[in-house]
Amino acid sequence: MSNYNGKIAITFGVFDLLHFGHFELFRRIRELVGESGKVYVMLQIDEMIAKYKPGCKSVYDFATRQKMIETLRTVDKAIPYDVVGVDAVNNVDFDLLVVGPEHTSERFLRLFKWCSENGKEVVTLPRTEGISTTKLKEIIKGF
Ligand code: CTP
Repeated sequence: MSNYNGKIAITFGVFDLLHFGHFELFRRIRELVGESGKVYVMLQIDEMIAKYKPGCKSVYDFATRQKMIETLRTVDKAIPYDVVGVDAVNNVDFDLLVVGPEHTSERFLRLFKWCSENGKEVVTLPRTEGISTTKLKEIIKGF
């Protein structure tokens, strides 16, 4: 049993075109918090995706991405956010922020600092090798 058993975990992302890497991420977070814990996915709203990932258009709109994610047994809830930061988590009760190794932007660094000052843990999980939404789009383009 992990040290985080029974805790509430959150993680951030766009999660357009769900793929194995996403499923693995959710599975690993569920493994950390166990069945008595909660897994909340902070899901970026459509308006902000274009702004923060220029040139990246999501295939599915927010409502659809939310529905797909909330279908998964590993996830309890998908919660909208606009920009990564303290404002996004202000109304979310959580114990644990789970991130990927690529989450090194100033916004994430500021949020990590806030977490450490407010009794929240930050856990970095490795990415699943060989798959990404970008890669998936490239592969589909080639068919
Ligand atoms: N993730 C992962 N393994 C992968 C791809 C993503 O663990 N192969 C994790 C990331 O570390 C992040 C979350 O999934 O915590 C959301 O990542 P997201 O940016 O939505 O997925 P990508 O597939 O990386 O999307 P893109 O190619 O558009 O950057």
